[in-house]
Amino acid sequence: MALAEFLAELDQLNCDAQAAFQAAGTAAALEAARIEFLGLKSGRLKSAQKGLGAVDRADKPVAGQRFNQLKQQLETALEAAQSRLASAATARVDGPRFDPTVPGIRPRLGHLHPLTQTIEELKDLMGRLGFSAVDGPEVEDEWHNFEALNIPLEHPARNPLDNFYLATAERLGATRPQSTEERGLLLRSQTSTVQIRVMEKTPPPVRIISLGRVYRPDDADATHYPMFHQIEGLLVDRGITMADLKSVLRLFASSFFQDDVHIRFRPSFFPFTEPSVEVDMSWQGRWIEMGGAGMVDPNVFRAVGYDAEEFTGFAFGLGIERVCMRRHNVTDIREFYKNDVRFLQQF
Ligand code: PHE
Repeated sequence: MALAEFLAELDQLNCDAQAAFQAAGTAAALEAARIEFLGLKSGRLKSAQKGLGAVDRADKPVAGQRFNQLKQQLETALEAAQSRLASAATARVDGPRFDPTVPGIRPRLGHLHPLTQTIEELKDLMGRLGFSAVDGPEVEDEWHNFEALNIPLEHPARNPLDNFYLATAERLGATRPQSTEERGLLLRSQTSTVQIRVMEKTPPPVRIISLGRVYRPDDADATHYPMFHQIEGLLVDRGITMADLKSVLRLFASSFFQDDVHIRFRPSFFPFTEPSVEVDMSWQGRWIEMGGAGMVDPNVFRAVGYDAEEFTGFAFGLGIERVCMRRHNVTDIREFYKNDVRFLQQF
């Protein structure tokens, strides 16, 4: 037999055997393949060995060397297949390997944003004073943001440049809406909207707070931002006076700063309260402005169908960023919105 023919036979045998060992998925299949290729009596390697005798004398050393090499290769392949099946079997019994000595990965725990922490705390404090927290939409109509709050169409607060009206493009060139049916939508500029929404749905008495975002087209600087948070309070009942307003605000501020905080009212004007005041508070020897407040204007009661002869009430709206900044000595409101973990980690 020619050498080339013999070597080609060995190559074919090698291919077939490798493929059969690799394909064997069970111990029985692997044993059948072993007998077919490496069986001592009639395996294909055994038959190839007979062919070796027929190779020309001069070619015998080369042919013999390749034959021995092939035998080695097939035995190695068989062993590899055997251990593959064995480890698959242990994995099935034990499940994936778990090494309890490998160091773990410590998950990085975050925490609530300082403003969210403040909001939660304010809810809690006011809750203890009997105020329940309610939510209102951030996209508002002009009725709730202005009209029902006694802010008529010609009032400068409704200037399109001082508010984020939606769909201004639709209105471009059109005259400003003349009736409540033509109400536009805007991002609410104050949480006082929620006073209206609650009173429209609930007969008096009411005792609520609402905390959330408000939007005004201010340039951002250390104390202004086009979006910020307010806490609105509303209490309506028989015989409510400004003394109640001041007591509630003082209790509230004292609990928040855990100190004896003083409250000062300065005369002011809001269309939806009469009289109206600016609220300042003094903590650690410094006065800071907290926001606005006053006694609910009878026109507001009329807009929501409350009897202004029978009920009185107070309302206030305070800046959440302000109290949070004062508490933590934050000097720039923009820090709250940058999401810089070096800032946020400190709270
Ligand atoms: N809504 C007012 C503001 O945003 C604050 C306010 C609320 C004043 C309630 C009086 C009563 O400035």
